Amino acid sequence: MIIRRLTIEFEEWENETTLPEMEAKLLQMARKATSRAYAPYSGFKVGAAIMLENGEIIQGSNQENSSYPVGTCAERTALYYASSQFPGVKIKAIAISAETGEPIPPCGMCRQAMLEFETIQNLNIPVIMGGKTGKIWKTSSVGSLLPLQFDHNHLK
Ligand code: THU
Repeated sequence: MIIRRLTIEFEEWENETTLPEMEAKLLQMARKATSRAYAPYSGFKVGAAIMLENGEIIQGSNQENSSYPVGTCAERTALYYASSQFPGVKIKAIAISAETGEPIPPCGMCRQAMLEFETIQNLNIPVIMGGKTGKIWKTSSVGSLLPLQFDHNHLK
């Protein structure tokens, strides 16, 4: 038996003022999207913004339901809207925010949903995680948030 280790790296920024312009703008769009969340049950409003290769920025927010599991996270709202409006257009980056004072990392289901697009487009998708204020985290890919990933290659 051997022990294998996987390590992940991510950037930590003090705040958005030092972030590269494109990333700061995307985070700002994610922050704005939180105000359009429908989250009467959890009260936890999340926003996501996706930058596409064609220059479009798609925003999404969490949409809850009285039958709790029916609700959808902000990231998947934005992802599926982007893919339905602009099928096949590559995703350049995604930003996620909540009305918190610390970064919000995407849930496991959204990591898997984002991974689908990253593997199919064969181009890494940087993930920028922020709150309303506070530190910002950034990974260079979705895959780094999901070690030992399951993707379409395993179905062959
Ligand atoms: N939520 C998101 O929208 N994205 C995440 O990555 C984490 C959780 C939402 C789902 C639910 O509406 C609320 O936050 C509380 O879990």
